[in-house]
Amino acid sequence: DKTIGVAVLGMGNVGSEVVRILEDNAADLRARVGAPVELRGVAVRDLTRPRKIAQELITDDPAALVARDDVDIVVELMGGIDPAREVIRTALQSGKSVVTANKALLAEYTGELATAAADAKVDLYFEAAVAGAIPVVRPLMQSLAGDTVERVAGIVNGTTNFILSEMAETGADYAETLAEAGRLGYAEADPTADVEGYDAAAKAAILASIAFHTRVTAADVYREGITNVTPDDLVAAKKFDCTVKLLSICERVRGADGSQRVSARVYPALIPLSHPLATVNGAFNAVVVEAENAGRLMFYGQGAGGSPTASAVLGDMVMAARNKVHGGRGPLESTYASLPIASIDEV
Ligand code: HSE
Repeated sequence: DKTIGVAVLGMGNVGSEVVRILEDNAADLRARVGAPVELRGVAVRDLTRPRKIAQELITDDPAALVARDDVDIVVELMGGIDPAREVIRTALQSGKSVVTANKALLAEYTGELATAAADAKVDLYFEAAVAGAIPVVRPLMQSLAGDTVERVAGIVNGTTNFILSEMAETGADYAETLAEAGRLGYAEADPTADVEGYDAAAKAAILASIAFHTRVTAADVYREGITNVTPDDLVAAKKFDCTVKLLSICERVRGADGSQRVSARVYPALIPLSHPLATVNGAFNAVVVEAENAGRLMFYGQGAGGSPTASAVLGDMVMAARNKVHGGRGPLESTYASLPIASIDEV
């Protein structure tokens, strides 16, 4: 048996859970992959922090860890653009498959990274980057690859959904609820990314890119966060049998002349309590996909937090490991359309 060596970069909420599951489920993972899967090392920012893993596995040099000959798969959970972009590119170029949950990075550089993966004939998977445990990336890239997606819309940020749900239900204080979201491991290291809608916009860019096979970056996404939503707004919404949700909406916009554009936008929206998205509370996410032939599909589940997100990471890791053992690749990130972006005033 060829042993599959895995390097984990980043030991936050998600990284810690990935390492735990790798160890706890080693026998099952081995059976599913068809070879043993071994953790070669974990890159952390702060070497002095006490960790639950063997000291010899820990390093603060991700580049050196990735360069090791016995590393076949790199799991990148550091977040941020630098040094993640360079580390991932180098890993792909040296024939290693990469699994990443890095939304901010993918929202800018999926094209560059997908090309590097295609050139090196290795896998680049990112199911965990959008909506935590919920399979939504793979359905869009594989299951719906033969259909025409018209719309992807939903709640893709757990922190803001947690805050809005708590505020609607108990009139809870905004700052307190945000702090609680941090303690529960939902919020980003800098929660501005959550509450100002940057995280949801990055996810919208990724969803729009894969749903419409085009290139949408975070800067193309119209964005409003939830910082201006007050408890009074939620009380008023309730009077109209509505609630407020931070929605990410990606749409194919068709002109009368047959032209096509893409609209991607994030904003707090008033939705009727009878709408399926109104029942999505706490850190749960939900994504509704509308495709020409499939019709309407809805994906629902835990969108944030250590173990749910780690579940998606491990799923990708198993796929990448199987391909290393048995040959094969995919799904490929395919860009064949080049659709202009519709501005918010046009939709
Ligand atoms: N901060 C993110 C959220 C984590 O709240 O949804 C999951 O991507």
